[in-house]
Amino acid sequence: MVPSDPCLLVIFGASGDLTARKLVPALYEMWRLGALDPRTAVVGVSRTAKTDDAWRDELAAHVRAASLFDDTSWHEFATRIFYVAGDAVQAEVYPTLAARLDELARTRGTRGNLLFYLSVAESLYEPIIERIDEAGLVTEGKRWCSIRTDERSWQRIIIEKPFGHDEASAAGLNRALGRVFEEESIYRIDHYLAKEVVQSLLVLRFANTIFEPIWNCRYIDHVQITAAESIGVGNRTAFYDETGAIRDMIQSHLLQVLAFVAMEPPNSMRAHAIRAEKIKVIEAIREPPAADIARWAALGQYAADAGDPAYHETPGVAKGSRTETFAALRFQFDNWRWADTPFFVRTGKKLARKLTEVVVQFKPPAANLFRTMDGFGDGVGRRPADRMVIQIAPRGEFSLRFECKVPGWGITIDSVEMAVDYEKWFGVEAVESYGPLIVDAMRGDQSLFKSRFEVEGSWRAVMPFLDARSEPLRRGIAGNYRCGSWGPEAAHVLLASSGRVWHDPAEAKAKAKP
Ligand code: BG6
Repeated sequence: MVPSDPCLLVIFGASGDLTARKLVPALYEMWRLGALDPRTAVVGVSRTAKTDDAWRDELAAHVRAASLFDDTSWHEFATRIFYVAGDAVQAEVYPTLAARLDELARTRGTRGNLLFYLSVAESLYEPIIERIDEAGLVTEGKRWCSIRTDERSWQRIIIEKPFGHDEASAAGLNRALGRVFEEESIYRIDHYLAKEVVQSLLVLRFANTIFEPIWNCRYIDHVQITAAESIGVGNRTAFYDETGAIRDMIQSHLLQVLAFVAMEPPNSMRAHAIRAEKIKVIEAIREPPAADIARWAALGQYAADAGDPAYHETPGVAKGSRTETFAALRFQFDNWRWADTPFFVRTGKKLARKLTEVVVQFKPPAANLFRTMDGFGDGVGRRPADRMVIQIAPRGEFSLRFECKVPGWGITIDSVEMAVDYEKWFGVEAVESYGPLIVDAMRGDQSLFKSRFEVEGSWRAVMPFLDARSEPLRRGIAGNYRCGSWGPEAAHVLLASSGRVWHDPAEAKAKAKP
């Protein structure tokens, strides 16, 4: 593995929740695993005035709660944490910040390598990018600057979601970034891409001979991608009401998972090869006919539950809000591999349980030789077809259901399920997803980050379910699904209308014999 370059990681939004709960604990974990160059340091920027030590103490409390902690290694790591107070959208803070960065670059030997992390509200992205530029902090491929004199020094930027609010705003943000940073210096982060099982989809498909030949519309009936959560919107109502399930989960995370399942084999595992295939498959997503939108999607909002208000009555949610807390969308591709095979993607809050999974439902065998024998209990002589389930959360698990002969006299057929729990099998615990991604950015590896065209293409794919065309889906949405259920009735109809059903893992487990 290429070691991470020494650099200064400049986090804008240092006082935010993400920094304290995820980023710094993840960096500490990476430090403990030896994945960070020892010269690397973290510089937080935020409006509140405080000293380096005060910020270190605040962070210690979070890191203690978040991962395996020991005082000695934390103190060692904490000496690499610094703080600069100031409003990052105002030019005034930048001379102080630049001076601090120059001093740290000199004393720590980070060669002018800077990794900016925008962990701030989306409305602040563009002004901060402009200020970074005006302050002359970006020299790679652009200008020459005193301390950043090493030819190999780089400046990169990591951007959090939401990346735009629609296709036009995402394109605008991409243009603003492009005016300051080269595309190879822009890291659009998605924590789903660091999930072990998402990455292992690539290995499953391309390091085996047995799956890829049947990974197409000839053998696969449909694919389901689910990200269900049992929690509600919590105290994020203002953000969520502007966002909704499609923007929050599908445009960002789940279309990435879909791209890994549906893409063609890349020429190599290099970033540009993987990204090229993801772009192609996202761009092959068909636009649903506006007049028929109800056959392509179901939207929902959770109802009141045991003392908790319904979504539309929650304080902070706009009166009469039609923002979806549940969405199930159908995607079809205009390409040869997936011609008639639909992909169904669903996500929602306050559902039956936390579950993130990919279900690959195979077609039944072309000829049914067993149709007259026992074991075809549904009366039409059909058995459930083979199915592969790649579970991402709560645990990384892979399972395959196929048909077997029940031992004993004569031929009776029943399904069996083979399952592998990744963590148990390999005896390793998963690490906090942000850590490996930040280290990848420090190493200059963009394979698990989204390109400009993927982001814009994903917006294009979901716009019919967000703009005026989605109007019929939003009528009567308020309280249309029960908390603890699997969403509104329309989500079941979406599949049932073509004789399909959503996978319910509880049902599958209940069928297993003790
Ligand atoms: C975030 C969304 O990006 O992902 C949240 O904003 C959601 O609403 C979260 O809860 C889910 O992430 P995970 O890793 O728990 O599936």
